Formats: sequence, C-alpha cells, structure tokens
Amino acid sequence: MHAIETLELTKKFGSTVAVDKLNFEVEEGEIFGVLGPNGAGKTTTIRLLTCLLAPSSGSAIVGGFDIIKDSIRVREIVGVQTENPSLYERLTAYENLDFFAEAYNVSGEQKKRRIRELLEFFGLWEFKDKKVGTFSRGMKQKLSIARSLVHDPNIIFLDEPTSGLDPESAREIKDLMKSLSKQGKTIVFSTHILGDAEKLCNRVMIINKGKKIALGALEELLSNTNKKILKIALRKLDQKVIDAIKCFKQVKEIRVDNSTSTVSVVLNASEEVTPEIIKSVVLNGGLILSVNVANQSLEDVYLRIVRGNNVEN
Ligand SMILES: Nc1ncnc2c1ncn2[C@@H]1O[C@H](COP(=O)(O)OP(=O)(O)OP(=O)(O)O)[C@@H](O)[C@H]1O
Ligand SMILES: [Mg+2]
Repeated sequence: MHAIETLELTKKFGSTVAVDKLNFEVEEGEIFGVLGPNGAGKTTTIRLLTCLLAPSSGSAIVGGFDIIKDSIRVREIVGVQTENPSLYERLTAYENLDFFAEAYNVSGEQKKRRIRELLEFFGLWEFKDKKVGTFSRGMKQKLSIARSLVHDPNIIFLDEPTSGLDPESAREIKDLMKSLSKQGKTIVFSTHILGDAEKLCNRVMIINKGKKIALGALEELLSNTNKKILKIALRKLDQKVIDAIKCFKQVKEIRVDNSTSTVSVVLNASEEVTPEIIKSVVLNGGLILSVNVANQSLEDVYLRIVRGNNVEN
C-alpha cells in the first residue's frame, strides 16, 4: 500500500487553479520533497492531503483513508506543520502542546513525557512557560513542528520546515526528518532549498501552476539531463570568443555573465570536448583566468524544468 495516493486532485480558488489534477504516490517511509516556485500549489497540496481544505474535485488516499469520506481518520494519523504556524499566541509553549495533545487524545503521563521530549529536543524547554506571542519566528517554527509530532503520527507533512531557522536549527530539523524516516514514518515536505531536497529526499516532485512537471529520484532527474557545465572566466569578453564556442555542436546552451566576464557553457556530458573548446578560445585571442567543469547541479535542472525547456536532452 502506498502511504499517499492522489487521483486527479484539484483545488480551485475562484478562477485560480491552485492544484490541477495532480496524480502521484508516496511510498511508506519515504522522504518526499515537493518543489516549485512561489504560488505553485505546494501549500495547497499539503492542506488538501491533511484535510485542512476540501478538494474541488479528485481525491486522495492518505494512510489508507479517503481524504473526503474519512477525513476524521486522516486527521488522526497525520501531523502537519503549516506555513503560518497555527499556534495560540496567548498560551505558553507548554500549554499549546498540551492543548493539541489532548485534542489528539494523548493524555496523562504519556502526554507529559511527550511534551517534555519535544520541547527539549527543540531547545524550547527553558521557554516552556513563555507566551508564544513573545517567541521569535524560528522559535514558533520549531514549536509548530513539535506540535505536528505531539501524537506520534505516521505520516508527517512539513511546509518549508527549515525556513526562518538558523543553520544549526535547520540542521537539527533535517536530522530529525532523517531519524523519523528511519523509524518508518513517511515525510512529505515542501522546500525552496534545493540542497535540502538533495540531501534528504528519496524522490522529489516538481510542480508549477498546480501541475506536476517532474517526479522521480533526484539522481534520475539529474542524470536524465546528462549535462556538464564548463565555466570559463576570461580577462575580457569578446564576441569572437563567444562565437567560436557556439560553433561546437556539443554546446547545448551558452550563458554570458558580463559582470564577471564569465562564459558558462552547457555541454553534453557524454562528449569530451572541453580541451577543444579551450583551445579555440585561446586561438581566438581569449585570455583565460580560470576554467571549471562541473556536473549540472540540481539548481540547473530545477530551473530548466520550471522554465519549461527540459525537452532537449
Ligand atoms: N485561500 C486562498 N484563497 C485564494 N487563493 C489562494 C488561497 N490559497 C492559495 N491560493 C492561490 O493558490 C495558488 C497556490 O498557492 P500555494 O500557497 O499553494 O503556493 P505555494 O506553492 O505554497 O507557494 P509558496 O512557495 O509561495 O509558499 C496561488 O496562486 C495562490 O494565490
Ligand atoms: Mg507555500
């Protein structure tokens, strides 16, 4: 059984189609990343799958339960950290977790232990009696993640979990996600931090304007494109040099940065033409300061896919 399965999942807000006939599956125990530009529909997708919103059409099964017919059961088994922390500002950190624990029928000693564990883990124990309204953005973010875990859910949705956190706290959250996944929990998270997706995810889905535009293991997404980037920094940019580079048939794309006099050349990785290109640059009078060859990064692939020119391979 899949942890999550969506079928033509759709959400419209007036004339805006925020989520457009999405079909995807998430495996149990997987860390599944949802990527996409602002307004792509990531938050809306998470809100639909956690029954914070009802779909306009289509459906989804989460943990074996239908998000429309069994929304109560879905809410019980999922944990969700939303974009804007839904916490009670006038209650203390402890009271917030206490409230949500009770709402999930976690009580007594188990509740106390759980709240203490979470507050300690997130470094908030010493602030447990402070009103959440006085918390910094990062502290609220951490408490919001703690909140999502209070009932030990099997499927966890985190909407940009590391946004607003300092590097150390962000690292702690990422380690937490890994350890939850090792315990067999399924994690769906949205992010703009491609490096996080690269480090954490088994698979990623890229969405744009509510539509799925790519889904797969990162290595697949990266290797499918099979490209290398050759960066040549020159003392001075010269059209003659640029034209000479353009002549090579293996050159897929060329980007010129005037401010740094750098030419970035996207090459078919299977063909080794770097020495010839460099020779040609020199023969055409280019003064090379540095040369750097790198495999295409996730960022390159992501931008290519989102801009819709991922067809040429
Ligand atoms: N409650 C709402 N009412 C009207 N439109 C909405 C509502 N929520 C989202 N939208 C619209 O739906 C689209 C998708 O929004 P969503 O918040 O899901 O994007 P996102 O991918 O999470 O973006 P971001 O990266 O900025 O968080 C946007 O066009 C947004 O304006
Ligand atoms: Mg969002």
